Amino acid sequence: MRRTRLFFFALCACLLVGTQVRAIEMLPTFGDIDHIHLPALLVQHADGDQSLQLRAQDTTYIDNAQYQEMVIATKDMVQPFYVTIHVRQWKSVPITETWYEISHSEKKPVRLQRFDSGYLPLDNGDLYLVHLHGNWAAEGVPTVERLTRGVKTIRNSDGARNAHLDAPEVMISLDGVPQENSGRVLGAALCWSGNFEIRVAATDEKGFHFYAGIDPMASEYILSPKQVFTTPHLAYTYSDEGMGGVSRAFHRWARTCGMLHNGNATRNILLNSWEGIYFDITEERILAMMNDIAAFGGELFVMDDGWFGGKYQRNSDDAALGDWVVDTRKLPNGLKALTDAAKDRHIKFGIWIEPEATNTLSELYEQHPEWVLQERGRELKLGRGGTQLVLDMTNPKVQDFVFSIVDNLLTKHPEIAYIKWDANASIQNYGSPYLPRDKQSNLYVDYHLGLIKTLERIRAKYPNVVIQNCASGGGRANYGLMPYFDEFWVSDNNDALQRVYIQWGTSYFFPSNAMAQHIGGSPYLMTGRTTPIKFRCDVAMSGRLGMELQPAHMTDEERAQCTVAFADYKALRELIQLGNLYRLVSPFSEASPFSNQQSPAVQQVASLMYVNDAKDHAVLFAYGLTSFMKQASRRIRLAGLDPNRTYTLHEKNIRVAYHHDRNAWGEGEPCELDGKSFTGEYLMSVGLDIPLSTEYNIDYPSRIFELIVP
Ligand code: DGJ
Repeated sequence: MRRTRLFFFALCACLLVGTQVRAIEMLPTFGDIDHIHLPALLVQHADGDQSLQLRAQDTTYIDNAQYQEMVIATKDMVQPFYVTIHVRQWKSVPITETWYEISHSEKKPVRLQRFDSGYLPLDNGDLYLVHLHGNWAAEGVPTVERLTRGVKTIRNSDGARNAHLDAPEVMISLDGVPQENSGRVLGAALCWSGNFEIRVAATDEKGFHFYAGIDPMASEYILSPKQVFTTPHLAYTYSDEGMGGVSRAFHRWARTCGMLHNGNATRNILLNSWEGIYFDITEERILAMMNDIAAFGGELFVMDDGWFGGKYQRNSDDAALGDWVVDTRKLPNGLKALTDAAKDRHIKFGIWIEPEATNTLSELYEQHPEWVLQERGRELKLGRGGTQLVLDMTNPKVQDFVFSIVDNLLTKHPEIAYIKWDANASIQNYGSPYLPRDKQSNLYVDYHLGLIKTLERIRAKYPNVVIQNCASGGGRANYGLMPYFDEFWVSDNNDALQRVYIQWGTSYFFPSNAMAQHIGGSPYLMTGRTTPIKFRCDVAMSGRLGMELQPAHMTDEERAQCTVAFADYKALRELIQLGNLYRLVSPFSEASPFSNQQSPAVQQVASLMYVNDAKDHAVLFAYGLTSFMKQASRRIRLAGLDPNRTYTLHEKNIRVAYHHDRNAWGEGEPCELDGKSFTGEYLMSVGLDIPLSTEYNIDYPSRIFELIVP
C-alpha cells in the first residue's frame, strides 16, 4: 500500500516544480510526446490545431478520513484548454484512482479524439498480462500472456455492456508467469460500463506504457465550450502477494470505498424463477415456488421475466418490453397478492425488469418510436427475439421513463425488496434521435452518462432496495455500474462444473457478496451434464447463494441437501461474503494439457477459501473436477491463516444419507477430517489430503470445511 502511495505521489511531486512543468509523465498528450509514444489524450481544437501541451498551473491536496487526493490544474500552452488531473489514494486499501476533467473556452466545440483515464509507465522486465476473456454463458476466462514489443490492445465495442468477451480489468505480473499468492502484480480496473480500450505499449526498448480509457472508435466526443468532461476513474493496485493480493485489494475497495452498493452488507439466499418456469408465470406457480424457497430456509423469491404486458403479452422474448404493467391474465390478483404471500411466508419479494429496452411489439414503441436508438433513414437492426431495441438513454425523457419504471413499482409496492435489472441487447443502431446531428459521435459515451444519472436518481430515492446488475449473465460486471448495484448475475450458465471456472475468473476482480451464484437443475439444460446436488450446492455456496430451478422437480434427496446447505450457509455467510479470498488450486492451471500437474493419475481439483480479518475463522471449499478409479488425491495447501494458531476442521453441508429406519433423507456422515486440529503452519506448508475420491461412487465430489480456532 505504502509503495503504491509513494509511487504516485513521487510521480506527481516531480511534475510540480514550477509552473512550466510538463504534465506529460502523468498524461501524455499528442503534440507533446515524441513520435515513438502513444498519447492518452488527443484533441482537435476549435481552430483545427491538433496539439496539446499541458503545463501545471496549480496543485491542491485533499486529505480526509478516507483518502488523500492530489488535484493538478493544467492548461495548454496556447489554447484556452484545461485538464485537471486527479490522483486519489485510499487510506484503508492499497488503491489509487486517477481521472481527468477536461474543459475549454475555445470559440467552438473541441473534438476529443482520445481521452484515456490514466497512464502508467512500467520498467522493462518479464511482464505478463492477465485479462478476462469470455462470452455469454462462458464469462471470466483468465487469459495469461507474455507482453512483447508492440502494442497489446484489449477492447470491447458492445456499446451497452462491456464484460462479455473482453472485460475492463487487467493484471500485469512484473515477475514472469503470475502466481496466485506470490510475486509482484499490478491490477487495474477501468470504472466504466461502455466501450473501452486498454493498451500496453512497448514502442521502444525502454519500457512498457499502460493506458486505459473509453474506446475512441466511433466516439469522438464533441465538447462544447465550458462543458466539463470527466473521464471514468481508473483504479490501480499493486501487491507483492501475487494475483490473490490484487484480488483482495479490489474486493476490499469495492466493499469499503463505495464501489459496490451497500458493499459491507451480506446478501439473502434466494430462488429466482427464470430457469424454473421461464415465461410460464402464473400465480399458482409463483406461490408454489415461494412455498419451496421458504421451506428450504431461503429468504427471498424473485419473479423473473414474463410477469408484465398489456396489449402485447410477454410469453416469449419478442414482445412487451417497455409495457411495465402486470399481466393480469397471468397474475389476476396483481403484485399485491404476491408481496402479501411473501410476507405470509416470512420471505422477501423481488422482481425482474429490463428498463433500457423495448420491443417493436410493444405499446411503448408504438407511442414513442423516437425513444429508440436508430440511424436516420436506415432499417432498424433488431436484437433478442428479432424485435428488441435499445432505448436512447441520452434523452432526458427516456431517463425519466426509466426512473419511473422503478419508482412506480416501489411506490405502489414498497414491499418489493429486490430488483433484477437486466440488459439483453448491444447497441446495434448507432444513432440518437435526441442528440444533435453534430454530436452523434457522443452517443456511446452519453448513453452511459444518462444511465448513470438515472441510477443515481434511483439510489437517492431508494438506497435500500437490493438491485442486481444482470446483462444476459455477467455482461455488466464492471466497476462503472457496480456502485449502484448490490450484486451481479455472474452467468446464465448454471452448470456447476463450468461455474467453478466462471466464478474463479470473475473473483479476480469482484467480491463474493456481489457474485450471484445459483444452484441449477440436473441434468443441466444448457450442457446436459448431470452433477450431484451436493456439488451444485457447494459450488454456489462460495458466493451469494441462490437457486435457479423448479423446486417442484427436485427429488427428496435434493430437497434435503438444499435444506442442509442453506442452514450451513447462513452460519458461514458473513465469512463467505465478507471474508478475505485465497484461491488455492486453480481449475485452469490443471486443465492445461501442457501443465506438468496434469495427469490422470492425480485428481484435478479446484479449491479456495475465505479467512476473516482476525484469522481465527475460515472456510475451505474443495471441488473434484475429474474422477477416475485409483486416482491419487491432490494435496491442498491452505493460505491466509495464522501459522501459530491451531485450527479445528468441521465439515459443512455434509452429504445427506437415506435413513431407512425413518424412511427419510437426513444427516449424513462427515469425513475423517471432521473434528481434527492442525496448526496454521501445517495447513499452509504441508496441506490437507481432502477425501475427494471416487469412493462415493459419484462424479464431482466436493467438501466444505469450517476452520475454527477453539
Ligand atoms: C437474461 C438473464 O441473464 C436471465 O437470467 C433472465 O433474466 C433472462 N434474461 C430473462 O429474459
